[in-house]
Amino acid sequence: MTLARTLSGHEVAETVYRELRETLSSLPFVPSLRVIRLGEDPASVSYVRLKDKRARELGLLSQVEVFPADTPEEALLGRIEALNQDPEVDGILVQLPLPAHIRTERVLEAISPLKDVDGFHPLNVGKLWSGGEGLFPCTPLGVVHLLKHYGVELRGKEVVVLGRSNIVGKPLAGLLLREDATVTVVHSRTRNLPEVTRRAEVLVVAVGRPHLVRKEWVRPGAIVVDVGVNRVEGKLLGDVHPEVAEVASALTPVPGGVGPMTVAMLMANTVKAALLRRHGAPR
Ligand code: GUN
Repeated sequence: MTLARTLSGHEVAETVYRELRETLSSLPFVPSLRVIRLGEDPASVSYVRLKDKRARELGLLSQVEVFPADTPEEALLGRIEALNQDPEVDGILVQLPLPAHIRTERVLEAISPLKDVDGFHPLNVGKLWSGGEGLFPCTPLGVVHLLKHYGVELRGKEVVVLGRSNIVGKPLAGLLLREDATVTVVHSRTRNLPEVTRRAEVLVVAVGRPHLVRKEWVRPGAIVVDVGVNRVEGKLLGDVHPEVAEVASALTPVPGGVGPMTVAMLMANTVKAALLRRHGAPR
C-alpha cells in the first residue's frame, strides 16, 4: 500500500521566510508587530510566544503586551486606539479567544484595517470577498500557499471545506473562489457529510474534532489538508484520522503542516501591512 505524500508546512514556511528576508533587506525600515494577549489561556500563551519568537528571528520588531483577564473592554479598546495612532506600529494582533466579558466583534472592528494583520476587520473581510487587495486571515492564506507550493492547481477543482469558522472556513472559501476553485463549505449540520466530502479533489478540514474524518470520507487520490489542532492527553491530534493516508494522495501532518504556515503568513502580513501604510498599495 502506498501512503499519502506528506505536505510539510515547515519546509514551505522556510521558503516564505527566505523571501521575506530578501524583502526586508531591501527596506529602509524595520516592520513592527504588536501582539496583545489577555489572560493566561495556555494555548494562547504558547501561540503568542511562537509568533513573537518567529518575528524576532526574522528581524522584525516584535512586542507582546499582556493584560489581566479581567481588563475592561474600554481599556483594551483604548490601548488598540493608541496603537492605531502609533506611527512605529505596523501590525496589531489581538490573540483570540478573548475573555467572555469582552465583545470580540468590537475589538476586531477597533483595529485599523491597515494594521489588521489577522485580516478579521469587516473592511478586510469585504475586500477578500469582493476581490480587492487587503490583509487576509493567516491560516487560510497558509493553506492556499501550501497547496500552490506543491503545485496543486486550484482552478476548476472540486474543493470541499469542512468547517465554517470566521477564522478559517469562511475566509478560506473566499480565497479559494479567488483561485477559481469550485468551493463547497460543509459543517456539522450538513446532511450526508461523508458523501459530500468524498466528492472533494481537495479536502480541507477545520472543525476542531480530533480524528473526525475517516478514510471512507475521502475520495481516493484526494489531497487532504488538516487544519485541526486538538490537544488530547498531552498529544496534538488533527481533525483527520491517520488512516486517511491510505487513500489520500497527499496529506498535511499535525503538527508541522498548516501551523507553521499560519505563523509564516502572519509575518508576510506584517511586512505587507508595513508597505500598505507607507505606499497605499501592497506588493
Ligand atoms: N486564535 C486562534 N487562531 C487565531 C488567529 O489566527 N488569530 C488570532 N488573533 N487568534 C487566534
